[in-house]
Amino acid sequence: MVARRTIVAAIICILNCAVEFIDCYRILCICPRASISHQVVFRSFTLALNKRGHEIIFVTSDPMNDPTLKNYTEIDISFLYKSNYITVLDVKDWFGSFYKLSGMANLQTDQILQHPEFRKIYTAGSNENFDMVLLEMLYWPALFVLGKRFDAPVIGLSPMGLTMNVQYVLGNPIMTSHPSNWELYSKSPPLTFWDRLGNFVSFWRFLHYYKNNHVTEQAAIARKYFGEDIPDLEELEKNVSLVFANQQTPISFSRPEVRKIVEIAGFHVSPQSKPLPKDIKKILDGATQGFIYMSLGSNMKSSMLSNETRNELVAAFSKLPYEVLWKFENDVLPDKPKNVHILKWTPQQAVLAHPNLKVFVYQGGLQSTEETVSHGVPVVGIPTWGDQRMQIDKMVSLGVGKKLELRTMNRNEIEEAIRTVASNKRYKDEMVKLSTLLKENSQHLLENAIWWTEQVLRHKGTSHLHSITADDPWYRRQDMDLIVFISVGTTVVLILICYVSHKLLTVIISAWKSPSLDRKKKWK
Ligand SMILES: *[C@@H]1O[C@H](CO)[C@@H](O)[C@H](O)[C@H]1NC(C)=O
Ligand SMILES: *[C@@H]1O[C@H](CO)[C@@H](O)[C@H](O)[C@H]1NC(C)=O
Ligand SMILES: *[C@@H]1O[C@H](CO)[C@@H](O)[C@H](O)[C@H]1NC(C)=O
Repeated sequence: MVARRTIVAAIICILNCAVEFIDCYRILCICPRASISHQVVFRSFTLALNKRGHEIIFVTSDPMNDPTLKNYTEIDISFLYKSNYITVLDVKDWFGSFYKLSGMANLQTDQILQHPEFRKIYTAGSNENFDMVLLEMLYWPALFVLGKRFDAPVIGLSPMGLTMNVQYVLGNPIMTSHPSNWELYSKSPPLTFWDRLGNFVSFWRFLHYYKNNHVTEQAAIARKYFGEDIPDLEELEKNVSLVFANQQTPISFSRPEVRKIVEIAGFHVSPQSKPLPKDIKKILDGATQGFIYMSLGSNMKSSMLSNETRNELVAAFSKLPYEVLWKFENDVLPDKPKNVHILKWTPQQAVLAHPNLKVFVYQGGLQSTEETVSHGVPVVGIPTWGDQRMQIDKMVSLGVGKKLELRTMNRNEIEEAIRTVASNKRYKDEMVKLSTLLKENSQHLLENAIWWTEQVLRHKGTSHLHSITADDPWYRRQDMDLIVFISVGTTVVLILICYVSHKLLTVIISAWKSPSLDRKKKWK
């Protein structure tokens, strides 16, 4: 009896092992956007794939150069930081300034394809083979040709909520006034009729420019490196197997999505933060009344703050009963109050984990949001650009923070916002609740992403997830042709009715008038 059980157990174990056995694949990952906050998200993912036994070639602007990693090669494209020329703060009209972004994306796509080390890999006749291409999906469809080049399925990666060009190409419903579209987000909902009209026009104008100018320029770049015989870029983009989008439902605005979109989140948030450096630890441990941590992220440098804004911040901080730790890249902070400590770089996750922290004053970057939520720290948000305004409005609507306007805030407003969030327990309580929800929600997201990736690897694509809306021309997407037909049809019918009624009435009136005159004459 016992022996039989043992045999059954052994068989189950062997079967389990057989199921667990995975093939190892070769994966090319390219993240063209030189921004550490984008790169860390994908890095965590490629590391997890590597741990599963897959070989990774990672084209990245922030290589780790870790010699202990096996089958993990990095191609350094950090030179792209030099051609990042977006310094426009608080872009109110994202689509209006897209032509600038378009120029940068084209320049950088060209620089990446030119890179000798990378060129050696993709050039025709190189003996390189890949089973999959992972590609950050923003504004460089030219790189999709790599999927064709290696005859490998492509998975798109989005470090934040999906941009609208990607949504369009996947066949997602285009809802130009939905708050999840951060490119159009300049006002908190509900929007007025005219705001919505403005959004509608902005988006379709953008799409026209994107398809007719940007994609054409990208195709020219692709032809330069892959030869004249390349497929239509939009067709390639449409055939993407999946898109991993960093838009976790509890901290974004929920909306309908096509099945190719898979939610990822919090990949870079480490469950155990590293110990703090001694000098920082001393300051934070000593802040028994609590401390405030301020950082505007990695793209925004403190030298980009105007003197007035900086002075208002300094004046507000000096009046606070807390210590202030400020990630500030300049050597000196003029008129630095005694309770303010400046640091050029901070181990953010470790600082956020410190129990004395009261409030995180930040710019609303998605990765910082994930970190602060994970540690249950309420926020004061000062949006600077991109998706940050949307992110902070979401935080405010969840009751876990307050918002300030970078351009107009004064010392009293700053002080008031920080004091309120620090002293009103409601903010902290709500943040802790949100943190618990998010932890439950995101526990399996990494495993889920790996599962999907391996499914695509095994089946060489996901044609079963394709939405045929993606094949429709623009005017069929939202039944715009039908709306135009019905509007024009109704108008024509109404005009006809008016015309005919008018004619009829004239005839009847004239017919009525003439005999009546005759009658009157007769009676006289
Ligand atoms: C590296 O990956 C290849 C497959 O691409 C595999 O054959 C090899 O064993 C891996 N090497 C290590 C050290 O894991
Ligand atoms: C896109 O996918 C469809 C269906 O699998 C296929 O017929 C078509 O050739 C693909 N297009 C390109 C450019 O690879
Ligand atoms: C800003 O302040 C710095 C010194 O703190 C000064 O050198 C600089 O001229 C100021 N800039 C403006 C525009 O006032």
